[in-house]
Amino acid sequence: MKPLLEARALTKHYEQGTMTVAAVEGVSFTVSGGEIALIIGPSGSGKSTLLSMLGCILRPTSGAILLAGHEVSNLPDRDLPRIRRRCFGFVFQSFHLFPFLTARENVETALRLRKISADARRRRSADLLEACGLEDRMDFYPASLSGGEKQRVAIARALAGDPFILLADEPTASLDSANGELIFEMLRRFAKKDGKAVVMASHDPSARGYADRIHAIVDGRMTEIGPIN
Ligand SMILES: Nc1ncnc2c1ncn2[C@@H]1O[C@H](COP(=O)(O)OP(=O)(O)OP(=O)(O)O)[C@@H](O)[C@H]1O
Ligand SMILES: [Mg+2]
Repeated sequence: MKPLLEARALTKHYEQGTMTVAAVEGVSFTVSGGEIALIIGPSGSGKSTLLSMLGCILRPTSGAILLAGHEVSNLPDRDLPRIRRRCFGFVFQSFHLFPFLTARENVETALRLRKISADARRRRSADLLEACGLEDRMDFYPASLSGGEKQRVAIARALAGDPFILLADEPTASLDSANGELIFEMLRRFAKKDGKAVVMASHDPSARGYADRIHAIVDGRMTEIGPIN
């Protein structure tokens, strides 16, 4: 099967005053539909930088990113928001929910730019929140939600646009183990049931049990540990 997402010799060097930080150095890997790729590595090893490049948020210094076989890393800036919206869902470590919007409105924001009616947006948001076990939290504001609930809203929002690929940066970082398992279960369901690809960076040891491949990254360089049986 053609990989959904492919990184070819991806490199990112940050210019920091007179210093150059080699955050990611020649990273190549692929992830196919139905697969979860886990990226592990110590703090500062380049995981978030790599995810940001994969999601077309950050331009690589060199190398290429291919989506379903098509190179996207050479597209002009004006094309990137559309690619991000259509192809990717993002889950960040720190939720990134809009504090003045309810859970349901947060999910709806991901649907705003689509040509669907307000009614359909409300229904889809409600369905997603229900699938995340939040049917009785839809009208809560983020401040009234627990960490696990907030992260589930963030996942519902990431899935709202029906992305091909979910990029999750430490999705369980601020959660206890029970809530963490719940999040991993949801990501697994998304990959296995819907045939989507998930790339997640995680320090959480239990993440390994959910991964189809594990890539370790150290000082920006990657080595594959998995596939896992
Ligand atoms: N905007 C930036 N400008 C300069 N250097 C940066 C920038 N962002 C990250 N870096 C550096 O790049 C390296 C990789 O950072 P990155 O955030 O990708 O690591 P990480 O593996 O996600 O770490 P953590 O596990 O702590 O989240 C680090 O040395 C960091 O200091
Ligand atoms: Mg990080």
